[in-house]
Amino acid sequence: MEREYKHLVREKILGDGFIRATFSGGQKGTSLEWNKVIVRPVEVKGEIHLQFSYFDEKKDITKNHPLNEAAPVVDELLALPFRNIFVESKTGGVQVNISKKGKAVVSEIKPTKTSTSPNLAHDRQKNKLLSAENAEPFLKAVGIMTADGKIKADMQRKFKQINEFLRLVDETDSFSLLADSPIHVVDFGCGNAYLTFAIYYYLHDILKLDAHVTGVDVKAELIERHKEKVKSLDWNQLTFQVGHIANYEPKTIPNVVLALHACDTATDDALAKGIEWQSKLIVCAPCCQHELQAQMARVPMPASFASIFKDGIFFERMGDILTDTFRANILRIMGYRTDVTQFIPIEHTAKNLMIRAVKASSTNKARWLEEYRNLKSFWQVTPYLEKILKEDYKLLL
Ligand SMILES: C[S@@+](CC[C@H](N)C(=O)[O-])C[C@H]1O[C@@H](n2cnc3c(N)ncnc32)[C@H](O)[C@@H]1O
Repeated sequence: MEREYKHLVREKILGDGFIRATFSGGQKGTSLEWNKVIVRPVEVKGEIHLQFSYFDEKKDITKNHPLNEAAPVVDELLALPFRNIFVESKTGGVQVNISKKGKAVVSEIKPTKTSTSPNLAHDRQKNKLLSAENAEPFLKAVGIMTADGKIKADMQRKFKQINEFLRLVDETDSFSLLADSPIHVVDFGCGNAYLTFAIYYYLHDILKLDAHVTGVDVKAELIERHKEKVKSLDWNQLTFQVGHIANYEPKTIPNVVLALHACDTATDDALAKGIEWQSKLIVCAPCCQHELQAQMARVPMPASFASIFKDGIFFERMGDILTDTFRANILRIMGYRTDVTQFIPIEHTAKNLMIRAVKASSTNKARWLEEYRNLKSFWQVTPYLEKILKEDYKLLL
């Protein structure tokens, strides 16, 4: 059986129509140098190569081998004790899972609609993302491009913002690291859904991933419009749903949670969902925040802060900074490698931060917890995110 599945995987990877293979997880009682290895075809100087990307917690290494020299590298990979192997190919994929007793469970997968042509771009569009050339259907659908193929003058800024958003999300490297296939993204508070359509097009049509994206918003009228647009485009893995974030119950647990400028505590509702689902990637761009400010206003402030709090705008900004610090801190305590970065240039909006959190297997939780508790006790507040987390998670704080 072992020889059979290895032979099958080897044939698929080295054969025509190969799209991508993911090797992940270690078999019981074994140790592996890499958490995951991804293999995909790339074109280098006009010649097809196989690209091997080796990932562990801290780094990734990528090596390209001409296709006709790649067989021994595939064999080396197959000799490692990975627990899961997932191969996508135009001719149909194969999934192998090794049970705790070491038995290989092999499933052959029919070719899917998305398994049509592998993306051979060597740099995975990292510097390119969406352009007038590669994203015409998307740009026309959302009204950024004119019928004759030009970016509209009044949409230049939106176009830039979309690409900046994609760049920041892509920079986390989560899409190549996502163990699960397909990818399920939920975009909470999707509003006019430029970014929802953009992430769908990017994942599905540019990166050629089996991506499912759902936009959620309380505004039924907007959602109805987006549904009509999706129907006319026949983008059948993009869906929209009316509803409140806090009440959202997905059919499939999303491995990517987005919440971009969702209002006030809606950001916390989105973060709580992502944490409780243990989503692999959580990205939010916080918006207006009032909840913590109301708590701060009730507590006598330290005298040394008096000059800050004389001016309302400073008080407000301090509330924003504290709210986002608490959010980032909670994500770190919950095992997410988290950073806070600038999203939109400050001249466009003061709400220009993005919090990016990638699930990691180990973070320095004790340190984050100490910082979190100290900050809470200094300001005598309880962040809204802590209040709404389910009990099991609240107990970790
Ligand atoms: C400022 S818009 C942002 C739209 C989009 N995410 C973007 O960045 O362009 C915020 C959206 O969040 C929605 N929203 C706010 N609170 C929500 C909640 N609790 N549940 C669902 N949608 C919510 C609003 O209806 C609005 O459409």
